[in-house]
Amino acid sequence: MIPQHVAIIMDGNGRWAKMRGRPRFFGHIRGSAQVREIVREAKRQGIKALTLYAFSTENWKRPEDELTVIWKLLRKYIRREVKELDQNKVKLHVIGEIGRIPEGARAELLQAVEKLSVHEEFHLTFALSYGSRTEWVSAAKQMAEDCKLGKLQPQDISESVIDQYLWTSCLGRLSDVDLVIRTSGELRMSNFLLWQACYAEFDFPQTLWPDYTVEEFRKSLERYQTRERRLGGLTK
Ligand code: IPE
Ligand code: IPE
Ligand code: MG
Repeated sequence: MIPQHVAIIMDGNGRWAKMRGRPRFFGHIRGSAQVREIVREAKRQGIKALTLYAFSTENWKRPEDELTVIWKLLRKYIRREVKELDQNKVKLHVIGEIGRIPEGARAELLQAVEKLSVHEEFHLTFALSYGSRTEWVSAAKQMAEDCKLGKLQPQDISESVIDQYLWTSCLGRLSDVDLVIRTSGELRMSNFLLWQACYAEFDFPQTLWPDYTVEEFRKSLERYQTRERRLGGLTK
């Protein structure tokens, strides 16, 4: 089975650049070029939702010049890709602390989200200034607020109600993640989709993100297909 929702932690750009004696931002440039290929392939494979971790709530600790490059590259990606995304009927979402994204980048992103909102075939989500814990705090505040206003009753809070308060509610029934891929060999979640990936399968290729090709991606999908997802039940 092809996973419906794949989430990728695109890690290793800095190390990729360092290995070549180049500044870290060089890795981000090569990494952002890789995104286009993986998005195309995900759609070709029949995946329905692809979520890309591009910037975490913790990444604000990075030096100012690196942050500038990251947001510049994001704008560049949107400008370059929006036409093709539109032709391919890709719906775009952004999850995270959208208000913290620098204004120029934010405006362009939201414009693209609006333009592509007519599509339903494939969901591409960028996690930007995203952190699971921040997402949960925001959901808890919103639920408390709605209880105060009488729009929500505490006894009605269920897993599916919580789903509706998380940023990934934009994905509807696709919000649960089937496969998490993290490149670069790191074995951790780094605050990514902790609720949504609670029953996901994991793949940790050693490859650094700028070297993660379509072929490597296919291998990740093949490995997923060998897994047996029992979801707490028993094998037939
Ligand atoms: C991932 O690559 C991209 C972002 C976090 C923006 P890194 O920049 O974390 O690269 P490494 O982990 O230092 O190699
Ligand atoms: C996680 O990578 C975030 C992204 C890939 C965007 P980091 O490189 O920031 O994570 P840690 O610090 O190694 O856990
Ligand atoms: Mg990293």
